[in-house]
Amino acid sequence: LPLILALLVAAYLIGSIPTALWVGRRFFGLDIREHGSGNAGATNTFRVLGKRPGSVVMAIDVFKGWAATMMATVMLNQGAIQPRQLLYFQLACGVLAVLGHIYPVFAQFRGGKGVATVLGMMLAIAPATVGVCILVFLLMLVLFRYVSLASMTAGVAFALLQLLPPFRPDNSLLLVFGFVLAVLLIYTHRANISRLRSGTESRVPMFGRK
Ligand code: G3P
Repeated sequence: LPLILALLVAAYLIGSIPTALWVGRRFFGLDIREHGSGNAGATNTFRVLGKRPGSVVMAIDVFKGWAATMMATVMLNQGAIQPRQLLYFQLACGVLAVLGHIYPVFAQFRGGKGVATVLGMMLAIAPATVGVCILVFLLMLVLFRYVSLASMTAGVAFALLQLLPPFRPDNSLLLVFGFVLAVLLIYTHRANISRLRSGTESRVPMFGRK
């Protein structure tokens, strides 16, 4: 039990590392949350600070979700643990990392929206499904050029894919978590949803279009 508690706390702390905020402060002397969409995430770092810092923040935020989940895999796999129980702890650590990213203890609980960290967590658990979701994300991005809309669609796609035979998990845990995470992503994008409805959401400049 102490090991499990330590893993859960560590997962939350890993997720809490406010990459976008620290990169903005350290290298650009600004609080990313006062610029662009006000979100401390990779998308807003791309928007406000550019491609290089955006890619760094994205890579680290994906890595946080992946690392927290893999930590559960490696630590718990040492003991004799049932696969179902292992999946449960992987999901618990992943979700805590995501919650850390959204509500970071190191940044007054004002973090990002959880997209990159969910991606990292699921890469460690269901990489094939994530591959399909990345394609869905890219397709939506090319079609509509809203990162928020593409992120939410990919999140919902992940949950729905759990219902299809080729992706169907052995147990219902992944299905339940897929839907919980989709709802969480929609919740963290609530400001984006109102901007999408009022036509004020910012688009990604692409193919020379503004
Ligand atoms: O990475 C989160 C993305 O889906 C939306 O970010 O900055 O456009 O609100 P942003």
